[in-house]
Order: sequence, then structure tokens, then C-alpha cells
Amino acid sequence: MSQTPLIVGNWKMHKTIQETEEFCLGLKKEIDGIRSGQVEVAVAPPFTALAAAARLLKNSSISVSAQDVFWAESGAYTGEVSPKMLRDVGCRYAIIGHSERRQFFHETDDSVNKKAAALITEKLIPIFCLGETLAERREGITFTVVERQTRQGLKGLAITDPQDLVIAYEPVWAIGTGQTATPQQAQEIPAFIRKLLQEHFSPEMSRGLRILYGGSVKPENIAELMAMDDVDGALVGGASLNVKSFSAIVRGAGPKEK
Ligand code: PGA
Repeated sequence: MSQTPLIVGNWKMHKTIQETEEFCLGLKKEIDGIRSGQVEVAVAPPFTALAAAARLLKNSSISVSAQDVFWAESGAYTGEVSPKMLRDVGCRYAIIGHSERRQFFHETDDSVNKKAAALITEKLIPIFCLGETLAERREGITFTVVERQTRQGLKGLAITDPQDLVIAYEPVWAIGTGQTATPQQAQEIPAFIRKLLQEHFSPEMSRGLRILYGGSVKPENIAELMAMDDVDGALVGGASLNVKSFSAIVRGAGPKEK
């Protein structure tokens, strides 16, 4: 099956509206058109810059993602943003369960699951992040942790099109540390996740669902990561903040045959 790789830039808490506009114009110049149909690209600015990004990227091949969402439709939830609001501002994707949200903001497998369901209902695509910490890897419980995160995160989720969900495997020890997983490590866990997806959905769905790798992805290592069978793209933090390095990563990811 032919799979269009997906490269997502997770800006985290970076960039003002003006910086977002400059970045989007620069990125469009670098990659719009050239990569369309070969690599799908999305950027995830902070909430305050989503509208600016969506306006500038409208009618381009680049999508907009939020970095988080709350599961309720509306209500007394001070500080939160609903899937409907993300759709309204022009998002196609929303990242959920990022390790920084799990670590600093008490995100749990259960809240990730509720967010995924709410996004799917609103026809937005969850980018569901999971991955083990260094302590968990050293303890030898990587597979147990990843299995728990996958099963609980996907509980009750019903999707029929593999395009409706994206999984991002991000070993926490590789995020922002410059220490990328080896291509073998980046393959081993996504292959395991794909087996779990097969049980949860179906063999066909599991083959079609995109699994991204995240954690210190750079222009220098994108090609070897993308060469792994079960890596269908990348979630990029630090290197996505600069147009040159992000577009070099996009160019380094090619269409994949499965
Ligand atoms: P990094 O972040 O590329 O800076 O390691 C990845 C992420 O947190 O999604």
C-alpha cells in the first residue's frame, strides 16, 4: 500500500503571531507545491497563533494542528478549548497525550482517550502521542508501558478510515535531548504498536494507520528513520522552529511503499 508520509512540526510554547506569519510564508515558499502529494506537512503553533497560521496556509498543502484540546463541547472549563473551536479556527489535526502534557499537566491515558473520541466526533484527526521514559526503558518495561498507553488511549474508539487517526511514538528520553533513538529502536516499538492496532481495529486498518516517530528528529537523521518499515513520518519539535531545517526534514522524507 502506498503511504503518504506525514511530517508535523510541534512548536510547543514558541512564536508570536508575527513570527508565525513569517514562518508560514517562508515555509510555503520552500515546500508548497513541490512536495504536495508526496509528503503531507502540518504545523502545530500555540493556540494564540492558530488563526494566523490557518489564514496564511489556507489553500496550501500545509495543514494546521493544535497542540492540545479539551473533550467537552462547551461549558464552564476555564482555560480550555474544544474540538469545535479548533475546527472553527481551521485545524485539521490536534496533538494529544504529548509527554510534556503528561509530565507537567497531569494528562492521563484516560484523558487522552476522551480527547481522541471528542476529536473524532468533530472530524478532526488526533495525533496521539505515547512513549516510555528513560526510567521505564531501564527497568525493562517499555513494551508494557507502550501497550498500556495504546490500549487505554484507543479504548472504544471506532474509526473506519486509517486517515482518521495518527499515532506518534516518542520515547521521552529522546525528546529535546539531541539523543535520537536508533533506527532499530524507532522501528521496534512502532512495529509492536502496529500489532496492537491490528487487534484493536483490523489488519487492513493497522497497515494504513500512520505511525510517526518523534524525539530529536533532524535533517541529518530523517532519511534513516523514514527507511524503517513502520515509521510513516515524524513529529518534530526543536528542528521545526526554523524554516530551513523543517523544510530540509520535509524534503528528506519520501513517499513510502508498503
Ligand atoms: P524534539 O521534540 O524534536 O525537540 O525532540 C519532539 C516532540 O516533543 O514532539
